[in-house]
Amino acid sequence: MVFKYNSVVPWGRNYGEYLSMFDLREHRLKILGCGDGPASFNEEYTRKGGTVVSVDPLYHLSAEKIRQRIEETREDILRQTEQNRELFVWDRIRSVEELGKIRMAAMNIFLSSYEEGRKNKRYIPASLPDLPFEDDEFDLALSSHFLFLYTDNLSYEFHKRALTEMLRVAKEARIFPLLDFNAKKSSYVEKVLSDFGNHRIEIRKVDYEFQISGNELMVIRKA
Ligand SMILES: C[S@@+](CC[C@H](N)C(=O)[O-])C[C@H]1O[C@@H](n2cnc3c(N)ncnc32)[C@H](O)[C@@H]1O
Repeated sequence: MVFKYNSVVPWGRNYGEYLSMFDLREHRLKILGCGDGPASFNEEYTRKGGTVVSVDPLYHLSAEKIRQRIEETREDILRQTEQNRELFVWDRIRSVEELGKIRMAAMNIFLSSYEEGRKNKRYIPASLPDLPFEDDEFDLALSSHFLFLYTDNLSYEFHKRALTEMLRVAKEARIFPLLDFNAKKSSYVEKVLSDFGNHRIEIRKVDYEFQISGNELMVIRKA
C-alpha cells in the first residue's frame, strides 16, 4: 500500500513535538509557522510567553468549519496509517489508536483557542509562496509536515518560491521532515541544497522519529 492524498490534509501536532522536530531550545524567538494548520504549537508557545504567528489557508474558515474538515479527513488518515504501519516507528506512539488520541488532543487545544488567536492575529489566512510580512520580521520560519512531505502534490518550483519567501521574512528557515508521506526522502532535498548553496544549510539529526528515518531537519540561514 502507499499513502495517497489528493490535497493537503489538516492534521495537528503538539508543542512537545514541535520542540523536538525543530530542535528548539531558545524561547525568546519570534517564530512564523507556515502551514501550521490545526497544530497546538501556536497556542502552547503563546501560553508560555512566546511570540508566534501561524499562516495557513485553513484560517479562512471558522472553528466550526475546521472541525468539520478534521472530522471528514481523520478516519482516512488513520486508516491509511494502519495500512502503512511499517512506515512508522511505534515506540513513543504505540498504536494508531493512540496516534488518533494524541492528534485529536492537539487539535482540540487549537480549536478551543482559535477564534481568540485569530482576533489577536496569531492565526493569519495566507498561503505560501506569498507571505504578508515585511522583510526580516521573524527570527525563524518553520514548516512542519508541509514542504517536502507533499512532494507528489506540489512542484519543485513551488518549494523554491516558498523557501525564498520564508527566508525573506525570517533570518532562518527550518523544514521537517525531509521525507514525503511514503517515508521516501523527497527528491527536492538535493535541489534545495544546490539552489540555496549561497546560504548556510545544515541537515541536523533530531530526537524525533515517527516516520522511519524521518529524524532529519533542514536548517537554512541567510549567509
Ligand atoms: C499535514 S498539515 C501539517 C500541520 C502542522 N504543521 C503540523 O505539523 O501539525 C499541512 C498544512 O498545510 C496547509 N497548507 C496547504 N497549502 C498551503 C500553502 N500553500 N501555504 C501554507 N500552508 C498550506 C494545510 O492547510 C494544512 O494545515
